[in-house]
Amino acid sequence: MRQLLITLSLMFSVFTSQAMAEHRPIAILGAMDAEIEKLLPEIKQRQIHEVSANTYYTGTIEGRNVVVARSGVGKVNAAITAYVLINHFNADSIIFTGIAGAADNKLNVADVVVSSALVQHDVDLTVFGAPKGQLSGYDNRLFAADKQLVEMALKAANKVVGSERVHEGIIATGDQFIADKAVVKMLQEEFDAMAVEMEGAAVAQVTDMFDIPLVVIRTISDKADGSAHMVYEEAKQVTADNSVAITLAMLKGMK
Ligand code: ADE
Repeated sequence: MRQLLITLSLMFSVFTSQAMAEHRPIAILGAMDAEIEKLLPEIKQRQIHEVSANTYYTGTIEGRNVVVARSGVGKVNAAITAYVLINHFNADSIIFTGIAGAADNKLNVADVVVSSALVQHDVDLTVFGAPKGQLSGYDNRLFAADKQLVEMALKAANKVVGSERVHEGIIATGDQFIADKAVVKMLQEEFDAMAVEMEGAAVAQVTDMFDIPLVVIRTISDKADGSAHMVYEEAKQVTADNSVAITLAMLKGMK
């Protein structure tokens, strides 16, 4: 009898931990309101949570548990929000959705970049012999995105915008809005970057620490050149909505 009870309780704990694992949410993160705006009405059984002065939305999309957040612009905001998504909401993976400047001048506004890897282009410990972009204590400056999520994002992007506008490549992150051709050239030559933004690699540093899969999906809103800030303002909402459409297609494909 005692043996039976032990077996039953072991079976129960395996069952509940599996069920809990199945219920861990996928986190969807954007930097600005514009980047998550179209996601919010898609959340069923939506609940709002305030954690550390930021708003998080939980519920389901396409039958999957999700937690959606807007981090605010920049690396520190992004890192803190990623940490809360993992530590507080127990996210099992993170999809970052948003917009970026083109670092590869072959790319045009409305093209899509799915991250193969991410790098913090504003990190500079070169006087100590480290390659540009490599953090202290790391032996690589690139944070690789999760291969499976990348495949899913590419498939979804191809479906939404057509494969000729979809690219997989390195996304460079820094706490600057880039509006200078010379900087774009440096980003391409130094990091082989395809797109530049202000959050992705900070999230990647956090997901790397916690071994959480990550993909970043960015629609190009400007060419990061002298007129970038004006083009960006014009294209911001449409291009942000495009990344959301890809994210939704990705969630649909996960069923
Ligand atoms: N996000 C969108 N465009 C950008 C740019 N030119 N620089 C940095 N982040 C961006």
